[in-house]
Amino acid sequence: MRFALISLLGLVALCRSDLLLPFSLSNDLINYTAQLEQPSSNGSICNVAQLNYCQYLFNQNFGLNSSVSYDQGSDIFSTIQDYLNSNVTQLNKVCKARTNFYHCLGHSYYSCMNLHTRLESNNTDSSNGFDYIRTFRGLEWVCGGGFREVMNQYDCVENFPTTNAYQSCITSFSQSVSTNNFCQSIQQAGDCLNRVYRNGCDNLEAGHYGCESFRYTFYKACPGIQCSMGNNTLVA
Ligand SMILES: *[C@@H]1O[C@H](CO)[C@@H](O)[C@H](O)[C@H]1NC(C)=O
Ligand SMILES: *[C@@H]1O[C@H](CO)[C@@H](O)[C@H](O)[C@H]1NC(C)=O
Ligand SMILES: *[C@@H]1O[C@H](CO)[C@@H](O)[C@H](O)[C@H]1NC(C)=O
Ligand SMILES: *[C@@H]1O[C@H](CO)[C@@H](O)[C@H](O)[C@H]1NC(C)=O
Ligand SMILES: *[C@@H]1O[C@H](CO)[C@@H](O)[C@H](O)[C@H]1NC(C)=O
Ligand SMILES: *[C@@H]1O[C@H](CO)[C@@H](O)[C@H](O)[C@H]1NC(C)=O
Repeated sequence: MRFALISLLGLVALCRSDLLLPFSLSNDLINYTAQLEQPSSNGSICNVAQLNYCQYLFNQNFGLNSSVSYDQGSDIFSTIQDYLNSNVTQLNKVCKARTNFYHCLGHSYYSCMNLHTRLESNNTDSSNGFDYIRTFRGLEWVCGGGFREVMNQYDCVENFPTTNAYQSCITSFSQSVSTNNFCQSIQQAGDCLNRVYRNGCDNLEAGHYGCESFRYTFYKACPGIQCSMGNNTLVA
């Protein structure tokens, strides 16, 4: 643990820290994720004018160009990432803006926050669409169920993605994930993150937090994935 902490501190200067988990997914797999999320009926329709309006209000909190919309999800992702990573005051500001955004969209929220719907709309490219969706799903967790844990252990969970332990979970995920084992690979990456956050931040809640931070992006595509609260088997 002490060893891990020392190498972690050494890396902070070189690597950025991230509350929205950094990992990449190929365009093929982003498209596959979208396919898994395809809404089954016309029951839920996203009103794009409303989405643009709510996005505009959201952007005003963060100095984002008012013309930045959901089709520029990568800009939104990196801006929100920077705010979240500054300090807990800024994190609270993001969460307040997210609550307003959620209320602004009302019952359209979940139909608008659908990767399939986003990629169909206005020719949004795969990576911008994916970054858009994972920003807001990430906030659902960080500002919702994960809020207490992130407040308790801000420094550890914020810096964790700079560690080799984090990187090795993501590397094995990237090397193994395919359309044949998609949800299974996400479950394995979630379990891996559960283990390394638990060991690195030294508690069960942090393990659960790390797993959920990853799972939330995929809860619609892979609804069966679970993040356990530890195994009573702390691996040294
Ligand atoms: C993903 O889907 C989009 C839209 O259907 C398409 O333009 C793009 O070529 C696809 N990308 C890949 C890698 O299949
Ligand atoms: C869904 O919407 C499309 C296009 O608006 C329409 O053609 C189709 O009939 C609708 N399907 C159902 C089941 O309502
Ligand atoms: C916003 O972006 C548009 C298009 O990229 C640009 O023309 C405009 O000047 C920008 N506005 C501000 C206030 O930066
Ligand atoms: C949080 O970060 C912002 C922006 O970097 C800074 O202006 C502010 O003083 C910081 N607040 C605290 C309590 O550190
Ligand atoms: C869709 O794309 C067009 C042309 O690029 C743009 O003018 C319009 O604002 C976009 N609509 C939305 C809802 O983003
Ligand atoms: C819990 O233990 C089971 C069996 O030992 C293992 O497969 C699973 O990955 C463990 N989960 C975590 C989060 O460590």
